[in-house]
Amino acid sequence: MYDFFLGGKDNFAADRAAAEKVVGLYPEIRYAVQANRQFHQRAARWMARAGIRQFLDVGCGLPTMESTHEAVRREAADARVVYADNDPVVIAHARALLADELRTVAVAQDAREPEALLRDPLTRRLLDLSEPAGVLITAVLHFVPDESDPAGIIARYMAALAPGSAIAVSHGTADNLSAEATDEGERIYAASEDPIYLRSLEQVRGLFTGLELVPPWNGAEPGITEPAKWAGPDMPPPEGADGSVPVLTARGPAVLWCGAAVRPR
Ligand SMILES: C[S@@+](CC[C@H](N)C(=O)[O-])C[C@H]1O[C@@H](n2cnc3c(N)ncnc32)[C@H](O)[C@@H]1O
Repeated sequence: MYDFFLGGKDNFAADRAAAEKVVGLYPEIRYAVQANRQFHQRAARWMARAGIRQFLDVGCGLPTMESTHEAVRREAADARVVYADNDPVVIAHARALLADELRTVAVAQDAREPEALLRDPLTRRLLDLSEPAGVLITAVLHFVPDESDPAGIIARYMAALAPGSAIAVSHGTADNLSAEATDEGERIYAASEDPIYLRSLEQVRGLFTGLELVPPWNGAEPGITEPAKWAGPDMPPPEGADGSVPVLTARGPAVLWCGAAVRPR
């Protein structure tokens, strides 16, 4: 469904049918998803500018817009990226695309098991746990129910990584939607393979407990914002998969919150 919203071709009829229902409910969904992807790339580049050279893209999805390794290599040509997802189709795709890439791997692991993901021999091939790492976990944790403790998952990643490590998170919210639209949206996702657990601004803020939030652009207050706010004047727009610059239009009320933070040294 996400690939369809981004204008990709890697989706099935059932995905398209469900995604069309979401578009009917919330026509600005394509804008929201592009803005999320742009936040992902900008946060990754911000980490690379801060000196981070190794990245963990958790719940990486299909590479419909510029991939994480392409984004960070604009800042640091030697950056290493571990892609992880629990969808075998995503991992098969990533491995085919990354076949010629020396400093990227794709790991079939579950985001809810940080220790297993960090222990995986493929991860260990690229990730040095004694050095700071950048974790990107964007538009993923709203597929994780409360009983799997999303805040605890983030804390476990950051505890396992060196001080100075950074994390970027985006998360779906119903804060700006009517109760009817929220119910209908949750029904659409519940009927798909991935039920969705939308969370409030306060709940998303709680995901960053113990971490230092950074500002979305130079000069702004540190904090949680909607993804479109991550557009600092010194950050050129990311490119689409075909090299074009995606045009964001038809902006609606925010349906995602996002933030980036560091583990204090
Ligand atoms: C909406 S896409 C987001 C892709 C990308 N992170 C982005 O923001 O552009 C969600 C991805 O998370 C993956 N995902 C969902 N739950 C997961 C889990 N428990 N472990 C690993 N991946 C998961 C899905 O397979 C999908 O590829």
